[in-house]
Amino acid sequence: MDSVTSNSIFSEPSIFLVIPTVVSLSILCLLPLASWIRWAWQWYHVTIVSREEFPDLQLPPGTMGYPVVGETIAFLKKGSQFYKEKMEQYGHVYKTHLLGRPTIRAMGADNVKKILMGENTLVTSHWPTSVRLLLGSGSISQSSGHVHKVRRKHMMHAFSRCTLDDMTNVIQNCVTSCMHEWPAAGRMYAYPECKRLAFTAAARALLGIEPHHFEQSQMHETFCEFLKNLMTIPYNIPGFGFRKGIKAKTRLLNNIRDILPDLEKRPYTPVMRAYYDSTLGSGTETETEILEGVLDLLFAGHETVASTATNCLMFVGQRPDVMDKLREEIERTLPQGDGCCQTADLSYARVNDMKYLNYVIKEVLRVCPPAGAGFRKALKSFELGGYLVPKGWTIMYSIRETHHTSPVFEDAASFEPDRWAALTQTSDDDGHDLAKFHYLPFGYGARSCIGKMYAQLVLKVFLVELVRGYDWRLENPGAEMRDL
Ligand code: HEM
Repeated sequence: MDSVTSNSIFSEPSIFLVIPTVVSLSILCLLPLASWIRWAWQWYHVTIVSREEFPDLQLPPGTMGYPVVGETIAFLKKGSQFYKEKMEQYGHVYKTHLLGRPTIRAMGADNVKKILMGENTLVTSHWPTSVRLLLGSGSISQSSGHVHKVRRKHMMHAFSRCTLDDMTNVIQNCVTSCMHEWPAAGRMYAYPECKRLAFTAAARALLGIEPHHFEQSQMHETFCEFLKNLMTIPYNIPGFGFRKGIKAKTRLLNNIRDILPDLEKRPYTPVMRAYYDSTLGSGTETETEILEGVLDLLFAGHETVASTATNCLMFVGQRPDVMDKLREEIERTLPQGDGCCQTADLSYARVNDMKYLNYVIKEVLRVCPPAGAGFRKALKSFELGGYLVPKGWTIMYSIRETHHTSPVFEDAASFEPDRWAALTQTSDDDGHDLAKFHYLPFGYGARSCIGKMYAQLVLKVFLVELVRGYDWRLENPGAEMRDL
């Protein structure tokens, strides 16, 4: 009986095998064809439609690579070096073709200003397809129009001064308990440890999830797998990063669903409260969208904070003079008796009283902004830096190259926290008036970072605890930070 069954499988393919095979093969053939048609359409649009509207404008200089893949492979191989080489070759506005889309990358305060101030009129937020699909429609960064405005308003409200005050000690506890384990390790890789710290702080302070909950479910490991596959070619095919990203996301949403069982009854933190108000309150969001919104906060606040904390360890570790100044300020600012005692409670006001600490964080974010660029889509054709931006194209406004090429920052490549003392003398406390659009680690305008104050708070608490509690030595003192 068994042999008959197995014979029949090999001699006459079952319909259950044939249909999926045919469907998979058709999809494999159709996907490149569909991409090609879209690519051809974009070119038609550029050569016919946009040129009619702006006959005197040329497309920016640059190359588009091969049909469909464009220059994606070179970009994936070289990372940020790809952009650096392009900038050196073509200047502040150039074209390329990345992740399936014709793209214009622009930098410099004037160009960036035009893009950021043109939200909803010239441009709209538009991330690469893989990011959009993986983060999902429930995420703030992927929403637009009225939904975006409502979600943003509630969230901004949640990061009020009062909330941040309440959060300071929670963050301090997360930071000190993570750091407590570091001396025992002797030697350690900073980045993975800072990622764990940033995740613990975000999960605890923003969402109210206790560490033992997410440790049990290995949520952090799954989360890292999700992030690793976020920016990829968006084909849901076995072996592709996108498929791995989808699987990681499904596991994560299940984790969050299990960890927050009483979504409606238990808004653990003010941030979650605000989130419920804008989602459940409206009654228009599905459960998946709500969970995606939670995931979005973890996404936005994880690698940004973790890589900046790592950079703080590196830059301060390389500069004993900066370390001494920080120590001196901490001792001076914390009240008598607290001095260099590790357990002294911090407060939001005290942390923000430390000017030099602020300069150090600002300078770390200037030299190595963790969000190197923001993504937009042109809603209509327009002029940028003397070139044509065709309707429908992706625009990347570069934060990193804007910082590095701005005339406002003398010797822009070097890490000099003291430069902010001079800059802030002629402007507001953040150096905004002078450095506006030359310095924008948190973006600007309608899409600027919602978690800015929270992120700065975590980083300040991190540096205070590190500097007042520990001595550390870099195993690779000449290390350079490589942007991805
Ligand atoms: C050092 C840390 C951080 C940096 C440098 C940073 C940077 C940025 C930048 C540049 C943008 C604007 C992107 C654009 O123009 O498209 C942004 C948006 C955003 N950030 Fe952050 N971020 C940080 C931490 C955080 C944290 C901790 C959270 C959440 C708790 C967060 C939540 C968001 C959200 C939700 C948006 C989207 C806003 C919108 O589309 O309206 N960020 N961030």
